[in-house]
Amino acid sequence: IGRHIHYEETVDSTQKIAARLAFEGAPEGTVVVAEEQTAGRGRLSRIWHSPKGTGVWMSIILRPAIPVQQAPQLTLLAAVSVAQAIEQVTGLSVGIKWPNDILIGGKKAVGILTELQADPDQVNAVIIGIGVNVNQQREHFAEEILPIATSLAIEAGTAFPRASLMQAVFLQLEKLYKEYLTNGFGIIKLLWESYAISIGREITARTVTSTIVGTAKGITEEGVLLLEDRDGRIHAIHSADIEI
Ligand code: BTN
Repeated sequence: IGRHIHYEETVDSTQKIAARLAFEGAPEGTVVVAEEQTAGRGRLSRIWHSPKGTGVWMSIILRPAIPVQQAPQLTLLAAVSVAQAIEQVTGLSVGIKWPNDILIGGKKAVGILTELQADPDQVNAVIIGIGVNVNQQREHFAEEILPIATSLAIEAGTAFPRASLMQAVFLQLEKLYKEYLTNGFGIIKLLWESYAISIGREITARTVTSTIVGTAKGITEEGVLLLEDRDGRIHAIHSADIEI
């Protein structure tokens, strides 16, 4: 991973470029990284602010031979890799909020967006988009997101070279991805759970169609969140916004 790197100064979204490259047959491990994104994409059709030179904005192409239902596992795998890389490089301790927000001191420092090219039931390419707020200072964030967003520099009180962080992410990701391809999701699931901050707690899950309040029970083998509501019913959440 990271042997083929497409470096761009300014792009609309590295996801878009990586998707095009993947479609054109780019090999597994290809990475698109940009200094700045003018239309960075977040989960649930949100915008991801990606100001120049402050963060790691990159998209990684993987081509695992897995059925489409297993693709969420790769999102969790990516979250664990980034969590490990941040701990290594910064010494900060991090938590993961399902599925893949990385929080430091309760605020979000990393977002991960996974997109699929499938054909039709088998995965052809997974595009893992990773946005790490590295060196932003408070004034980089809009007033309304300051209570919920942070950067590694704000949390650690010092700046970090973005290249070191990227390198650590590539190494961790490659290690876990190999483990995943050889032995399956088992170890990754355990690692993910060791970082999880929502499991066992009362959360609110907002899906496209409903809002469910309940206790997060854990994740399934597929990476789906299990939520027990107040009537004791278990809901399988595939995609939602989680509030703890
Ligand atoms: C989220 O909503 O939490 C996911 C944010 C993902 C942002 C990254 S930055 C690099 C890649 N390119 C994009 O347009 N989005 C992802």
